[in-house]
Amino acid sequence: MSDQPDQQPKKPFLYVVVCASGIAGDVGKLITVAQEANWDVGVVATPQGLGFIDAEAIEAQTGYPIRSAWRSPGDPRPLPPADAIAVAPATFNTINKWAAGISDTLALGILCEAYGFGIPTAVLPYLNSAQAAHPAYSQSLERLREMGVLIGAYEPHKPKAGGGADRFRWEEALELLTPELSAPA
Ligand SMILES: Cc1cc2nc3c(=O)[nH]c(=O)nc-3n(C[C@H](O)[C@H](O)[C@H](O)COP(=O)(O)O)c2cc1C
Repeated sequence: MSDQPDQQPKKPFLYVVVCASGIAGDVGKLITVAQEANWDVGVVATPQGLGFIDAEAIEAQTGYPIRSAWRSPGDPRPLPPADAIAVAPATFNTINKWAAGISDTLALGILCEAYGFGIPTAVLPYLNSAQAAHPAYSQSLERLREMGVLIGAYEPHKPKAGGGADRFRWEEALELLTPELSAPA
C-alpha cells in the first residue's frame, strides 16, 4: 500500500469568455454542464458583458473571481492557466475584433494570445442576421476557422424579433472542445 496521500487528478481548466449579449445572463448553464463534465471553470467577461451577468452568482458557482480588467503589474494571476477556452455568447463586436487581432479588452487579449499558445478555443456566436450580413463578419469567421477556432452552428436570428435563446446550445462549446483535448498532441 502506498504511504502517499490520495492525489486527485487535476481537473482541466476552462475559461468561459462572456460578451455583452442579451443571453449572457444564462452563462450559468454552460458552467453547470462543464462542471458536470469534470472541468474547473473561470469566467472572463468583456467590460460591456459585465453588465449582463450576475457576477456574484457566477463567482459562487465557479469559486473564482470574474476577470474583466487587466491586473496591475505584480498582482497575482486570479485564474489558473486555461486548458481550453469557450467564447459564449460571442458578439459581432468581439468576433470581428478578435479576428482582426485587436486586443483592447482583457477578453480579447486572452483570445488573441490563445492562438499562439495553441489553446483549444471554441466560439458560439450569438447575433442577428443584420449584423451577420456585414461583410466583415464572414471574413472574421473565415480567419478564425483558419486559426483552428471551432465555431458553433447557431444561425443568426431575425433582428428585433425576440432573439433565439431557445435554440442557443450552450453545451455545444464542450462538444466542440472535448475531442480536441482527448486527441493526441
Ligand atoms: C440588450 C442588448 C442586447 C444585445 N445583444 C447582442 C447580441 O446578442 N449579439 C451581439 O453581437 N451584440 C449584442 N448587443 C450589442 C453589444 O452589446 C455591443 O456591440 C457591445 O459593444 C459588445 O461588446 P463586447 O463585444 O465587448 O462584449 C446587445 C446590446 C444590448 C444593449
